[in-house]
Amino acid sequence: MIFTNKKNGGDFEIDPENLPKHIGIILDGNGRWAKKRGLPRSAGHSVGVDNMKTVIRECNRIGIESVTSYVFSTENWKRPKDEVDFLMKLFIKFFDNYKKELEGENIVMRVIGARENLDPHLVEKIAETEEYTKNNTGTIVNMALNYGSREEITRAVKGISQDVKNGIIKSEDITPQMITDRLYTAGQHEVDLLIRTSGEMRISNFLMWQISYAELWFSEKMWPEFTNEDLHMAIYDYGQRKRRFGGI
Ligand code: IPE
Ligand code: IPE
Ligand code: MG
Repeated sequence: MIFTNKKNGGDFEIDPENLPKHIGIILDGNGRWAKKRGLPRSAGHSVGVDNMKTVIRECNRIGIESVTSYVFSTENWKRPKDEVDFLMKLFIKFFDNYKKELEGENIVMRVIGARENLDPHLVEKIAETEEYTKNNTGTIVNMALNYGSREEITRAVKGISQDVKNGIIKSEDITPQMITDRLYTAGQHEVDLLIRTSGEMRISNFLMWQISYAELWFSEKMWPEFTNEDLHMAIYDYGQRKRRFGGI
């Protein structure tokens, strides 16, 4: 697969056999992007969601199996009510327009995270979109919305302890795979490549179990400025890394 990248010196080739199977994206920096332009933070979020559509389309085109994009964390409820309300409306709009905008993309759209405390209207739109795209065969896009890794792992532990209580399994037989199988991403490949924008070098409660051996790729760009060329660069760099998984 040949990508043309103007900034980084012409064409470069990516081995289709060596693509990351699962890419995690912490799409950070919407607020700062807007502030720098004298715009309200909400404007950054709108552009950010649009940019997410661009990037997931490209992941699907390239043939990535799974993409998980972090759009709202369990900690983001701490933000001012106005901003949270705006984001929830933006997500409703995203799912409302899904058919119109991403029809024919063959993407399997899923939402991961706790649904219990989301607006029922949003939950309904999510369910519709998941139903509508479930038989597609392209990239699985997990939108991590009201997602937190600690919540996810806690949920898994509760499920397993219930099985122990009911005598389905013995506590000494619990395996790491059983935990993997109870995460929202069950059945998908672990994360190979984790991208975070905005220059922050932290995980912020994202897929902590699934990124155990991920290659990390940080960009100084704010999320609204992140382009498909940047995505190609991240995938290219990933292909150059020597993964050892503890071996030599
Ligand atoms: C990421 O952008 C999107 C969400 C967390 C919803 P931010 O809103 O965190 O933008 P910054 O980091 O404040 O610039
Ligand atoms: C992480 O970004 C969450 C999302 C991108 C949705 P934050 O902006 O919330 O992370 P911190 O607070 O800088 O760690
Ligand atoms: Mg942020």
